[in-house]
Amino acid sequence: MSISTEDERNGMQQASDAVAITLKKMREYAKPGMSTKELDEYGGELLTQLGANSAPLLTYEFPGYTCISVNDEVAHGVPSADQILKEGDLVNIDVSAELNGYWADNGGSFILGEDIHGHGKLVEASKEILKKAISNIKGGVRISEIGKLIETEAKKAGYTVIKNLTGHGVGRSLHEEPHEIANFCDRYNTTRFKKNSVVAIETFISTKSTIADTQADGWTLKGNKGGFVAQHEHTIMVTGGAPVIFTSQNGIWD
Ligand code: CO
Ligand code: CO
Repeated sequence: MSISTEDERNGMQQASDAVAITLKKMREYAKPGMSTKELDEYGGELLTQLGANSAPLLTYEFPGYTCISVNDEVAHGVPSADQILKEGDLVNIDVSAELNGYWADNGGSFILGEDIHGHGKLVEASKEILKKAISNIKGGVRISEIGKLIETEAKKAGYTVIKNLTGHGVGRSLHEEPHEIANFCDRYNTTRFKKNSVVAIETFISTKSTIADTQADGWTLKGNKGGFVAQHEHTIMVTGGAPVIFTSQNGIWD
């Protein structure tokens, strides 16, 4: 969406606060021994308390309130009572929701407890690349230019990017124009970021894979070449200068 009134900006901020606070609290609540279902139900309760409705549930009838992807799962992991979190797991939580007709989206990967498997470098690279990408976005910048930046930074750190998962426009629905804000230089995409538009920027930084494939459950995505993926995502408003980070309360950069 494009923001043209103070009411629209406030509406976007409120929806963004709801998903950001939920993401932050879920990350703090996650403990070894807990099932991803238990973690998701906590997230669902938080969204309800904040007056928000789970976007994947509303939009896609996703079997959960949030997406929780563990270790080799890249994205869209389905919360399950059988999936028990362990010390050192690479966990990604993605929370998106609707509140009063406004939609916001955010996510982040983190290591549960002690980093016994050495995923720390990947997580830090993804966070830093998101920061660099967002700081380079303003009205008039080509979307492909930001994709190029993300891929270049990933390569420099020794990683690949997932090419078939992208950031996207957001605001009046979960996914809207521009539909594909890729993690690589898509030279066929001549679209530019527009001032006052709301977009979700997300990284998909991988140790090996370049494509995320859907698994037998119809939801969960795993890398085509295995390895691990870290994702970090903010909902922002594009301006003529530094973007407004609507989901800053999620604390992924703290
Ligand atoms: Co998301
Ligand atoms: Co998104």
